[in-house]
Amino acid sequence: MAKVVGGIITSHIPSVGNAISWGLQEDPYWKPLFDGYVKVREWLERVQPDVAIVVYNDHGLNFFLDKMPTFAIGAAYEYNNADEGWGLQTLHSFKGDPELSWHLINNILPAGFDLTVCQEMLIDHGFIVPMSVMWSDKPEWPVKAVPFAVNTVLFPLPTAQRCFDLGRQLGKAVRSYDEDIKVVIFGTGGMSHQLSGERAGLINKEFDLEFMEKIVSDPIALTRYSNTDLVKLAGSEGVELIMWLVMRGALGNDVNEVHRAYHLPVSNTAAGVMVLEPVD
Ligand code: DHB
Ligand code: FE
Repeated sequence: MAKVVGGIITSHIPSVGNAISWGLQEDPYWKPLFDGYVKVREWLERVQPDVAIVVYNDHGLNFFLDKMPTFAIGAAYEYNNADEGWGLQTLHSFKGDPELSWHLINNILPAGFDLTVCQEMLIDHGFIVPMSVMWSDKPEWPVKAVPFAVNTVLFPLPTAQRCFDLGRQLGKAVRSYDEDIKVVIFGTGGMSHQLSGERAGLINKEFDLEFMEKIVSDPIALTRYSNTDLVKLAGSEGVELIMWLVMRGALGNDVNEVHRAYHLPVSNTAAGVMVLEPVD
């Protein structure tokens, strides 16, 4: 049977993609950020997952303000990347796992989560930047990937509680897949940030650190935040943190924290990264 081997939480800052393209990993501004990912890459090298389910938000590339599904999943053999306006290099296409996608769809929909199923899905920086940080030095990413998009852009958004419940169902669905594969689940986005408006530039370090603590020890407490609370505390784009709860829900009740790094500032936010393993 398939196994959820772990979860990776990471912010998805577009300029990090450019730092990789321009080879700036050792630059004094960028080095502390990339140092935070060394242990994550070592973990991936050791665990060797077969598939990555990447929970991220689309920022206006594949879905725009005219049509915004709350939850959408890719079911394609291959996905293409494009840049929705950050000046990022377009990367190679990458392999999907449509059999796993359909298994997830058929096990998540009947449980009451109405996913939009995408036979084609363009992938933006919310997906690409975290994957590049992990594997940009490899000619091909060593995993198949299933993109799983959550609306954090156009209100109304799904609640933190709904995301956590969806994650629980996602975890159950993976564990009932009759193939011996290792699955890692990414939750991208955050940390606190706001890119425009009167509070542009907002960063709330205290809240970020509390969120990182609770995602390990008390995710239920995080499900009690409303999206209005999250926007107030973490900024209009900081509400992306709800996607961490999808990943966390999929890991089960208790987790072992393998790694945590927090570096501030990067672009308009803090770079947060964590690796969690389910305790079974
Ligand atoms: C930034 C962060 C994001 O999560 C994003 O989607 C776009 C930009 C930033 O800090 O620049
Ligand atoms: Fe974002």
